[in-house]
Parts: sequence; structure tokens; C-alpha cells
Amino acid sequence: MRKPIIAGNWKLNGTIAEAQALIAELKALVRDSNNVDIVVCPPFTALSTVASAVTSSSIQLGAQDIFFRQKGAYTGQISGPMLLDCGCKYAIMGHSERRGRFGVPEPDLTEEILQVFGDNDKTVNLKLRAALFNGLTPICCVGEVLAERESGKTDAIVQAQVTGALDGVSADEAATIVFAYEPVWAIGTGKVCAADEADRVCGIIRATVAGLAGDTAAQAVRIQYGGSVKPDNAADLLGRPNIDGALVGGASLKASDFAAIVKAAE
Ligand code: PGA
Repeated sequence: MRKPIIAGNWKLNGTIAEAQALIAELKALVRDSNNVDIVVCPPFTALSTVASAVTSSSIQLGAQDIFFRQKGAYTGQISGPMLLDCGCKYAIMGHSERRGRFGVPEPDLTEEILQVFGDNDKTVNLKLRAALFNGLTPICCVGEVLAERESGKTDAIVQAQVTGALDGVSADEAATIVFAYEPVWAIGTGKVCAADEADRVCGIIRATVAGLAGDTAAQAVRIQYGGSVKPDNAADLLGRPNIDGALVGGASLKASDFAAIVKAAE
């Protein structure tokens, strides 16, 4: 039996004071939810504060990204040891917004500017292995943009992203990973992927893991769906056999909504 995992990705939101208020409210609401792994991923600047706030609760801490070197002359980067030092247990990598693949691209994000969000399958693999090396559980995001879905490339894109992510990863390590299937067109758009289709693509992720790392790893791997998950669609998505949790953006910023999604997973 895979334990459900609900993770909140706060993205670029919140001062330290706002993070403190949000986590205090959330803590009270999910106090009795013991059958679900609950993870919050605040901005780096609020990690330490939120870590102190969750010490006496079952809420766990994750980072929104991780760099693949341990230390050195890499201005602006944050390493695995630094995340551990802040109390993190999880690290997200390969989020579409870090791959420069946006559901609703803002018009001023030109090709030149998009390079700052430069992740690709190679760097996602390096980040995933850095997380494993440091004992952090990876939450590795994969998913297609609208044009890829409309041209029938969804399955191939997701297979390629999972295959790239798992390069050089052992079967035992693969079993510990959390994948998040996030169709890019569903992120922050309010357009949720139909539960049957989300489950089908999560099944493709599981089959890809099976092909690369064997059945035991594939059965252990937890796969989240992400993209406009809200309290009113969570139960339908989370009731599907291949969906083991949710990666929640917008709705994780409202404690009552996030808590309702956690309850739906129980
Ligand atoms: P959303 O974001 O829930 O706001 O659509 C999901 C994500 O990007 O992880």
C-alpha cells in the first residue's frame, strides 16, 4: 500500500511573516491527518522559519529546487546540504516553471528571458541524483505542454522525461522517488486534467519506471497529479489507482483548501 503524499508548492509567494501565518493555520487544520504524508515547499527564504514551526507536527518540509553541486562558486544556487541544514526532507526538481515551460506564458517572457528557467532532462537528472545523494526524497515533475498534447506526443514526452530523470539511478533508489505528473496546460489555469486521463498518464509513468527499474520499484514509486488541484476535484483524482497524491500550487496558499485536499487523500 503506497502512502498518499500531498505537497504544497508555494512558489514565489510569501514573506516570512506570511509563511508563519499560513503554516500556523495549516498545522491546526491537519493535526489529526496521520495517514498522509503532508509536505510544504515554501520559498527558500522561509524554509528555516517554517521548519521551526513544523517541528511538533507531522508536516514535512520540501524545497522548490536543488542545485546539483554540494558547494562552490555557483552564485545564487542552493545545495542539498544547505536544504538538509534548513530541515528539508524533500526537494522538487524539473517543475515546468523551472524548465521554462509555462501554462500561461506572460507576453514579456521572451525566449531570451526564458533561458533563466533553463532546466532540461539532463539537469533534472543531476538534481534528482543530488537529492538522493543527500538523503532528500526527490519530487520529480514531468508533463507535456498543450501543443504536445494536441499533437499526440503526451506519452512520448512523459516517457522521455522519466527516462532522462532515472539515468544512473539504481532500482532501490528509484523506489523512493515521488514523480509528479503535471500537464503544463493545467498549471495555474483552472483547467484540470480529467481524472481518467491523469490516471492513464500516471500509469505510463509507472510502466516506464517498471521498464527501467523493475516491478518492485514501480509498485513502490508514488505518483502525484498536479495542475489546478482544488478541494472540489481532489477526491475524484485521488481515488484513481495510479494517482498516489497531489502537487498543489495555488490551493496550497489557502490553508483551508490545502487541508481539504489532505482530507480527500485520507
Ligand atoms: P496549480 O500549480 O495547483 O496552481 O495549478 C500546480 C503546480 O505547479 O505544482
